[in-house]
Amino acid sequence: MAKFSALILITVVRLAMALPAYESLVGRSASEINEYIAREGIAEIPNPPLPLVDGSIKLVNNPSHPFIPAGPDDIRGPCPALNTLASHGYLPRNGIARPDQIVTAVMEGLNLGNDFAKFLAYQAFLMNGNPFTNLMSIGMKTPETGEDPPLPAQVGGLSQHGTFEGDTSMTRLDAFFGDQAAFNEDLFQGFIATSAEYGFNGTYDINAAAELRYQRLQDSILTNPELVFNSPRIISAYSEAVFPTIFFVDGRLNNRQLTMDAARHFFDFQMMPADFHRQPAPVNFTMVDPLTKAIFDKHPFSPGSNQGVNNFVLQPETPPLADFCGIYHDIALRVVPDQYPNPTGYLREALNKNLGFLFDAVNTEHNCIQAFPYGSD
Ligand code: HEM
Ligand SMILES: *[C@@H]1O[C@H](CO)[C@@H](O)[C@H](O)[C@H]1NC(C)=O
Ligand SMILES: *[C@@H]1O[C@H](CO)[C@@H](O)[C@H](O)[C@H]1NC(C)=O
Repeated sequence: MAKFSALILITVVRLAMALPAYESLVGRSASEINEYIAREGIAEIPNPPLPLVDGSIKLVNNPSHPFIPAGPDDIRGPCPALNTLASHGYLPRNGIARPDQIVTAVMEGLNLGNDFAKFLAYQAFLMNGNPFTNLMSIGMKTPETGEDPPLPAQVGGLSQHGTFEGDTSMTRLDAFFGDQAAFNEDLFQGFIATSAEYGFNGTYDINAAAELRYQRLQDSILTNPELVFNSPRIISAYSEAVFPTIFFVDGRLNNRQLTMDAARHFFDFQMMPADFHRQPAPVNFTMVDPLTKAIFDKHPFSPGSNQGVNNFVLQPETPPLADFCGIYHDIALRVVPDQYPNPTGYLREALNKNLGFLFDAVNTEHNCIQAFPYGSD
């Protein structure tokens, strides 16, 4: 009996240390955040949000989510969807968010399926967020995510090149040529031209997506001496080529044909078109995977990187696009440990938690074997 209550006591004390208070750091000043972490050790890590209770079609550009352009202190980055969701208040408008808030925002605002939302958000967080404060910038690195864990951790925000952000983007320059996070009008003109040539009635559809993805890779092979196009970048490059044909199209029409007007709104204005409705049902891997496979099959490639201009060297030891679980393992066993080689204490606890959430996301539809870079306890 005495043993039993001692056990309970220890459990309660440990919980109290790990989850000091249900207190959110979102919206706090950098110094408040740092004081909190100095006192408590780690921020609360909420569990991943569950799938939407009502995943039906809905007016999402609505009066409770008005567009307000980003102010001078609001951060925006390389993802047109997250930028737009921040400008409509589905994410904190300053562009600093917890991964669970990102999951909620993409489900609620665009009807991304729960598993896909978690896959993107926790993967990004592990590469670009601050595990102590549970905050991530959707753009550039900023003190607003709190004091960093020790190097070689980057906590660089979503704009950090060579993590989630990578080369051959559709509307952003390769980092070698300039700002890899900023919308680029010249590239958008290419988006329009490719849609005019290959898309139905000038829209960005699956055929335009296949050609543009191919062209952007060929262009970088020919011009960017530092091109890197391997895991995990390849999976985001291909899903991001498909995403606009689904999520940026009004759910009432839902014809997988993105008009240039709607594309201009999301990519450039970071704004939902007037009266915009989200997808009529949550869109998960089961729906996206065949589309990424279709655009890959039109122009297959193998992962690799340039060793100088027009010298694309294949890297057969890295997983190809078709090996989803291989890419998940590459993230968990190589990419994350590159930044966190030997975490201990709270840091290890936070990383393991987020790695567990990432695994939940890949387990639902892909049945991968769980990877434990830091042990399984
Ligand atoms: C759920 C969390 C998400 C995260 C963490 C995320 C993160 C990112 C990042 C880091 C990039 C830059 C990659 C690069 O081009 O170098 C990106 C690009 C992109 N994202 Fe997201 N994203 C998310 C959800 C979405 C959703 C729901 C959509 C729906 C349309 C979307 C559409 C795009 C598109 C189209 C691009 C490519 C931009 C371009 O190539 O010019 N993302 N995202
Ligand atoms: C083609 O696009 C124009 C606007 O750009 C639109 O008015 C027309 O209805 C579209 N045609 C078809 C067949 O979708
Ligand atoms: C994925 O979406 C399809 C189509 O809406 C649905 O039938 C299926 O149950 C979903 N799968 C999961 C794991 O949510």
